[in-house]
Amino acid sequence: MEVKKVLTSEQKEFKKLLLKLPKTEIHLHLEGLASVETIWTLMKKNNLQYKNINNKNDLKKKFQITCLEDFLDLFINIIQNSFIKETDIEYLFDDAKAYFIENNIIYSELFFAPTKFIQLGLDFKKIVKILTQGAEKIKKYHNIDMKFLIDVSRSFGVDNAMKNLDLVLANPSSAIIGIGLGGSEQGGPAKAFAKVFEKAILKGLRVVAHAGEDVGPQSIWDSINYLKAERLGHGISAIQDEKLMAYLTEKQIPLEVCPTSNLFTRKYAKTLKEHPIKVFFTRNMDVTVNTDDPTIFSVNLIEEYMNLLTENIFTEKDIIQIIKNGVYATFLPESRKNEIWKNIEAKLPK
Ligand code: ADE
Ligand code: ZN
Repeated sequence: MEVKKVLTSEQKEFKKLLLKLPKTEIHLHLEGLASVETIWTLMKKNNLQYKNINNKNDLKKKFQITCLEDFLDLFINIIQNSFIKETDIEYLFDDAKAYFIENNIIYSELFFAPTKFIQLGLDFKKIVKILTQGAEKIKKYHNIDMKFLIDVSRSFGVDNAMKNLDLVLANPSSAIIGIGLGGSEQGGPAKAFAKVFEKAILKGLRVVAHAGEDVGPQSIWDSINYLKAERLGHGISAIQDEKLMAYLTEKQIPLEVCPTSNLFTRKYAKTLKEHPIKVFFTRNMDVTVNTDDPTIFSVNLIEEYMNLLTENIFTEKDIIQIIKNGVYATFLPESRKNEIWKNIEAKLPK
């Protein structure tokens, strides 16, 4: 959802600079990178039929969602449902590669949600092999690093989430660094998943949670207190709670803000101007900018930054600070974060 605007010459220059800067992205879903082309190809290859989807254009129209629950229906029941073999996941790496190159993203932490795939009969061990090999190939040929956070999911209950965690633990991979909690925030309150997260932390995994995307500030508090989430996906309902904003500023818990995604699901902001991101940044909260599901929301990382600039939410300097936040909010070792930031700094105009 790029805000179509004629760019001033200064803005054009900044867009060029954004392209030149090596960047990180820490909140996006591998399945949300699937192009319409990929899903259409899989639907045909796998002989799948969906009600009211007779051509590629019908499929494209399905992506026009206006709330999180409709989005999850599309994500789980159409996109994920189109994969019937583990090797189908390889298509996603072609889409991911194109996206990273187009945006000059050199390091990303991506979610992958296995539940639906397992229900469809895919084998987790084989899935891990595909994820690991896909990441290795992108590293080898393009020098781009991808790490995965397995989304154990709020949508399918606690036992399922624990099962997903146990699968992660039984199938260690250099490509998998932790777990996340996505899916229905209304249907799966954080508190219920405390045991899953406790075990993950004990086993040395990194832990993050979508929170405050579709439910009020209590959901964010619960993700901090019960899940010990190291980063918060979205976190935008914090705008309703002064104490929480002060806490997030004090603790510097990174917020993985996904502005365009939030405008699609329409819960706490319907325009960029009313999005809480500016307030968060002004209060010195640790704000990062991400796309969530680039294909579904028709946006890429460069466009996210450009929209924030052209809508006068942030200055160029603010955006560079947010890019820096995105480097330091990763789960990389400090030395690697410093190295990435130094490379970015060297490309900034003097
Ligand atoms: N899965 C993919 N994108 C998601 C989102 N924005 N919220 C919850 N679950 C998701
Ligand atoms: Zn997400």
